[in-house]
Amino acid sequence: MTTPSRRLLLLLPLLAVAVAASHPAHEVGVLRWQFCAAEGDAGCGGGGDGARILIKGGTVVNAHRAEEADVYIEDGVVVAIRPNIPVGDDNVRVIDATGNYVMPGGIDPHTHLAMEFMGTVTIDDFFSGHAAALAGGTMMHIDFVIPVNGNLTAGLESYKQKAANAAMDYGFHMAITKWNDEVAREMEVMVKEHGINYFKFFMAYKGSLMVTDDLLLQGLQKCKSLGALAMVHAENGDAVAEGQQRMIDLGITGPEGHALSRPPILEGEATAWAIRLAKFINTPLYVVHVMSVDAMEEIAKREGQRIIGEPVVSGLVLDDSWLWNPDFTIASKYVMSPPIREAGHGDALVAYSKMWSQSPLKILVGTDHCTFNSTQKAFGSDDFRKIPNGVNGDRQDFCHHVRVTSTECAKIFNIYPRKGAILEGSDADIIILNPERSFVMGAHTHHSRSNTNVYEGRKGKASSSSHIKQQYLVWNSNPTSEYILFIWCREWWKSRYQGGEWYGRMVC
Ligand SMILES: *[C@@H]1O[C@H](CO)[C@@H](O)[C@H](O)[C@H]1NC(C)=O
Ligand SMILES: *[C@@H]1O[C@H](CO)[C@@H](O)[C@H](O)[C@H]1NC(C)=O
Repeated sequence: MTTPSRRLLLLLPLLAVAVAASHPAHEVGVLRWQFCAAEGDAGCGGGGDGARILIKGGTVVNAHRAEEADVYIEDGVVVAIRPNIPVGDDNVRVIDATGNYVMPGGIDPHTHLAMEFMGTVTIDDFFSGHAAALAGGTMMHIDFVIPVNGNLTAGLESYKQKAANAAMDYGFHMAITKWNDEVAREMEVMVKEHGINYFKFFMAYKGSLMVTDDLLLQGLQKCKSLGALAMVHAENGDAVAEGQQRMIDLGITGPEGHALSRPPILEGEATAWAIRLAKFINTPLYVVHVMSVDAMEEIAKREGQRIIGEPVVSGLVLDDSWLWNPDFTIASKYVMSPPIREAGHGDALVAYSKMWSQSPLKILVGTDHCTFNSTQKAFGSDDFRKIPNGVNGDRQDFCHHVRVTSTECAKIFNIYPRKGAILEGSDADIIILNPERSFVMGAHTHHSRSNTNVYEGRKGKASSSSHIKQQYLVWNSNPTSEYILFIWCREWWKSRYQGGEWYGRMVC
């Protein structure tokens, strides 16, 4: 029998230009990815239909407990978790995890891949975004469909096309940018026929995505009647437009104008407004990218309401001093909305999210991965209002936080316990993390197509050595520090969960 699986379809340095041009060989080694044929390929580290994998000797970390145990996987599903599982026969692939943590893969509830925005398109498409995610240990994400001229069906069709080269599981939320009877009718179709249960309303971006007060009210009402969850980008868009004009009138055109034009008070105001409105309609609300103490305090005040606040990594670990950097290329990387705030806001958000990890108020960590490269950011070199808003969402420094990177998200979006945990019957989306190995973040190691990284040079402890996506090894690093990402070529995940749906597809 011929073995097409042996043919390496492509072997290319990812980000070849960035790696070769400016960065010498680094302690994390050379990044490469490789397509693997569906049937399984020895060169790809094994796996395939019916494959059996035994992860031995590690500490299995779930949100609720950590235990010393082996994990046995059959056909992509966790079958047993207990100490000293015997190997059985030769056809079981054994991965030694001694001294390592065995954790569920990350789930990212907030990404924008291949999104057309502010005159350009986010640089990461579904393939490069998925490659970056898989290499970083994130194994499922939920992206936002942007309707085409308000048309939801056309938006979903367009995103399904964008996702044709997907390499891992993904689901969709959807933005609502316009209101009429047709939109209301289509929302119902999205929920009932396409499993899209989460609708996002932008209170900012006047003139493009922003919704009027009236639309938000109608939208909340419709979400309630459909049992769907409303999400808001909470900033007062009219006031932001006013603030931007003030800065331009003052002659402030640089990236610092971005922060100055939309202070935390505008985020607090919109958050309060959306929460009150949700209370009036009596429906839950999900506030995306909570960046400020102002918004956090409004969420804290909720009275018996079901409110979910989602801080993003950049808001927790960065501060806005970068926006004052005299080098536009550096400063513009940090432009996102709501803006990264002054020092203090991030720490307060971290403290609060820890305090509330056991409460009905669920705070989880999304990345808002929404990446533009330096050329795209330069669209705004003489006017901060034209800098595409978005930063990358590296999350490696959080990957030991199973709860916030995986479990809470799976629970909120109805994917638990199939995802978000290592339990018998769960999908085997697993990362094996070495707590002793350090890493350095940067544009040459993050696998994204962007040539910039807002966490450039940050060092982290604990780095993963192997990632298993169901029956496949997708990421491995050998002792010589050569990292390889295996992209498996097959249509493999199309699945429904409690009223939702997700997909995954890669045809090489
Ligand atoms: C919305 O888009 C779909 C698919 O492209 C199309 O069939 C439908 O007629 C559109 N609806 C309206 C109101 O234009
Ligand atoms: C950024 O991306 C654009 C669009 O793909 C491309 O034309 C440009 O050369 C890129 N810039 C850099 C510095 O990589």
